[in-house]
Amino acid sequence: MKIITHNYFETQQQGAKLAGMLKGGEVLCLYGDLGAGKTTFLHGLINFYIPHKRVLSPTFIIVRRYEIRKDRIKYLYHADLYRLENVKEIADLGLSQNMNNKDTIVAIEWAQNLRELLPKRRIDIYFEMKDEDQRFITVQKYG
Ligand SMILES: Nc1ncnc2c1ncn2[C@@H]1O[C@H](COP(=O)(O)OP(=O)(O)OP(=O)(O)O)[C@@H](O)[C@H]1O
Ligand SMILES: [Mg+2]
Repeated sequence: MKIITHNYFETQQQGAKLAGMLKGGEVLCLYGDLGAGKTTFLHGLINFYIPHKRVLSPTFIIVRRYEIRKDRIKYLYHADLYRLENVKEIADLGLSQNMNNKDTIVAIEWAQNLRELLPKRRIDIYFEMKDEDQRFITVQKYG
């Protein structure tokens, strides 16, 4: 599935749309350059479950956990692995233990840094900057 967005709000809307389709247990892996729209998309996705919640980029703290109540989904982990290149450091975060749990969604920016920890069952989401405002978003399901 390939989408083009033209502003911040359209990208948020796409995140919210995906949120409406998730059942719990999904791992969302987000890829794309700095400023490509990954956090914006997750802002929309998280706000679908928790309206008006301020969604901060977890760049410095690496992982944020949100408690949500939507059918069987109870937790959402938002991680940003930009600063972590060492697989041992990433393994120590314990993210893998939460992956594919039925009551949990895991969303990871810079997921390529997971390397061998990248789960087989996942949804890959690619962000490309077409120009200053246009973003190409491609969603692909694996496993
Ligand atoms: N179509 C668009 N969709 C999303 N963001 C856009 C769009 N056009 C312009 N922008 C701007 O691009 C920036 C996207 O920032 P965002 O934090 O979402 O990127 P990111 O991929 O998470 O980057 P990082 O790798 O630094 O975490 C914002 O400043 C936003 O206003
Ligand atoms: Mg970000």
